Amino acid sequence: MKMSLWLALILSQLIDFGSSEFPNLFVNISDDEPWISTYLPEDDRIRSVLFYTEYGGDRCPIYDYMLDPSIADPWAIGEYITNDTRILKITAVIETNQNETMIESLRMSFFEENKVFIKHLHNFLPSSGESLDCENLRSSTKYCLPSISHHGGQAINCSGRLLFSESFEDGENPLHNWKHVVQSQLLEPHYEGVAFVNRKANSYVENNMLHLKVTKSNYGSKNPFYLENCTYTKSDSNQRCGEKKYRLPFRKFMPPFDSAKLISNETFKYCRIDIEAKMPIGDFLFPGLTLTSAHHDAIRIAIVRGNKKLTDFASNEIGGTTLYAGAILNDNGGRTYELKDFASREDHFGNDFHTYTAIWKEKSITFKIDGRTFAQISNSTVVQELSRTERHIELYLTVGGEYNFPDNRVPPEQKSYRNFETGLSSKIKKAIANSPPWDQTVMVIKKINVYSTDEYEE
Ligand SMILES: *[C@@H]1O[C@H](CO)[C@@H](O)[C@H](O)[C@H]1NC(C)=O
Ligand SMILES: *[C@@H]1O[C@H](CO)[C@@H](O)[C@H](O)[C@H]1NC(C)=O
Ligand SMILES: *[C@@H]1O[C@H](CO)[C@@H](O)[C@H](O)[C@H]1NC(C)=O
Ligand SMILES: *[C@@H]1O[C@H](CO)[C@@H](O)[C@H](O)[C@H]1NC(C)=O
Ligand SMILES: *[C@@H]1O[C@H](CO)[C@@H](O)[C@H](O)[C@H]1NC(C)=O
Ligand SMILES: *[C@@H]1O[C@H](CO)[C@@H](O)[C@H](O)[C@H]1NC(C)=O
Ligand SMILES: *[C@@H]1O[C@H](CO)[C@@H](O)[C@H](O)[C@H]1NC(C)=O
Repeated sequence: MKMSLWLALILSQLIDFGSSEFPNLFVNISDDEPWISTYLPEDDRIRSVLFYTEYGGDRCPIYDYMLDPSIADPWAIGEYITNDTRILKITAVIETNQNETMIESLRMSFFEENKVFIKHLHNFLPSSGESLDCENLRSSTKYCLPSISHHGGQAINCSGRLLFSESFEDGENPLHNWKHVVQSQLLEPHYEGVAFVNRKANSYVENNMLHLKVTKSNYGSKNPFYLENCTYTKSDSNQRCGEKKYRLPFRKFMPPFDSAKLISNETFKYCRIDIEAKMPIGDFLFPGLTLTSAHHDAIRIAIVRGNKKLTDFASNEIGGTTLYAGAILNDNGGRTYELKDFASREDHFGNDFHTYTAIWKEKSITFKIDGRTFAQISNSTVVQELSRTERHIELYLTVGGEYNFPDNRVPPEQKSYRNFETGLSSKIKKAIANSPPWDQTVMVIKKINVYSTDEYEE
C-alpha cells in the first residue's frame, strides 16, 4: 500500500516567494519502500534544477543536475533511507526560463517507528559544517547536458544517450540493421583485391558476433564473374558488377578474393561510437571500421594492417602491432588522411578483442583504444569537411588497396606489386600466394554502441 505525505504542501505556505508563486518542493514517502522522493511538479517555467543533498555526519553531500523537461518526473530525486538515516537536508536551486534563480530547501528528520518530520527552511545556504573531501556529482539518468548530435535527421537533446546499439543477437534476421554492399573493389579509387558479395561464406552471425571473412574467389569460364543484385549503379557497372557471359579479356576485372561490406541503415552526425572487434591477421588483409557519407568520404575509426610486420619508407612499423586512425577525404577523387599519432602493442591487435572508439565533435575527432586516447583530428578544415552530413557505419574486410597500403608509403621490398600497375588482380593473387599463409581471415565484431555527445566530451 502506498501512502503519500503532503506535509510539504502545507508548510510551503509559510515561505514567501513574492510575486512568483512558484511551486515548492514536495515529498513522497511510501510505506513499503525505503525510498523518499523529493520533487517539484512539472512546470514549463522551469529550465533546470540543481539538487543538493546533505546527510550530516561525515557523509559527502551529493549534487544532481536536471535539465531535461521531456522525461517523466523531470525534477525529482530519490533518496534511499536506511535505519541509520537521521537527517536529510535537500536544497533545490531552480533556474527559470526568465533567467531567475530560486532556492528551496527542506529538512527531513527521521525518528523511531518510521516517523518523519519535514520542515521547510528559511536558511537556504548549504550548511556543511566541516570541510569534507568531497567531489561527488551523482550520475543520474535524468542528467541532461545539451548535445550536438544528430541521428536520422533529428537533433538530439541530451548528451550521453544511447542512440544505437548492435549486439548481433542470433535470430531470424540478425543483420536487419544493415545492408550489404555488392561490387568489385579492383578499380579506382580502391585498387583492392576483393569483390564484396552477399553470401553466407563471407558474412555471418555466430555466437552473437558478426563475422566478415575473406575467401578465395574462383571466377572463370565455368563460374563467370557476375554479381547479382550489384549495388554499384554507374555507367561502368559491368567492370564492377561483372558480366553474365564469360569473356577472356574480361579476366582483368575478376577479383582474386571475395569478402563482405555492411552499411548501417542508421545515420549519425557528431557522436561517440564504440566498436568491440577482433581484427584479421595476415599479409595485406585490411579491416574497415568507418563512418562513411553518401559521398564516400570516411572517418576511419581504426586502421590495423593485417601484416605481422610491415615497414614504411620512413622505417616506421605500420603492421598489425600499430593502430592508426584518420579519414578518407573527397578532394581529388579520394585522399587518405592518416594521423601520425598511433597506439602500439607487443602483439598484433588481431589477437584479442579491443574497443575502438571515435568521438566526433564540431572541432575535433578523437580516437581511442580500450578507453585511452591515442590520436585526434584537430585540423579544422578537415573536421569541417567531414562534418557536412550524417554518416553511416561501415564494416568491411578487404585485401590490399591504395587507401590501405599506399604505394608512396609501402616500399617495393615490402609489397611486391604497385597499386596502379595493370594486371592488378593477378598481381595481388600472386603476392598473397607468395606470402605466409593468413592466420585469421576474419574480422569479428561483438558490439557497437553509438551515443550522443557534446563539445566537452573527451
Ligand atoms: C508523488 O505521489 C503522487 C501521488 O501519489 C504521484 O502522482 C507522483 O507521481 C509522485 N511523484 C514522484 C516524483 O514520485
Ligand atoms: C527534445 O526536446 C523537445 C522539447 O522538450 C521535445 O519536444 C523533443 O521531442 C525532444 N526530442 C527528442 C529527440 O527527445
Ligand atoms: C532496520 O530495522 C529493522 C526493524 O527495526 C530491522 O529488522 C533491520 O534488520 C534493520 N536493518 C539494518 C540494516 O540494521
Ligand atoms: C536569458 O539569458 C540568456 C543568456 O544570457 C539570453 O540569451 C536570454 O535572452 C535570456 N532570456 C530572458 C527571457 O531574459
Ligand atoms: C534496413 O535496411 C534493410 C534493407 O534496405 C531493410 O530490409 C530493413 O528493414 C532496414 N531495417 C531497419 C531497422 O530500418
Ligand atoms: C537478388 O535479389 C533477389 C530479390 O531480392 C533475391 O531473391 C536473390 O536471392 C538475390 N540474389 C543474390 C545472389 O543475392
Ligand atoms: C589542415 O588541412 C588542410 C587540408 O588537408 C591543409 O591544407 C592545411 O595545411 C592543414 N592545416 C594545418 C594547420 O595543418
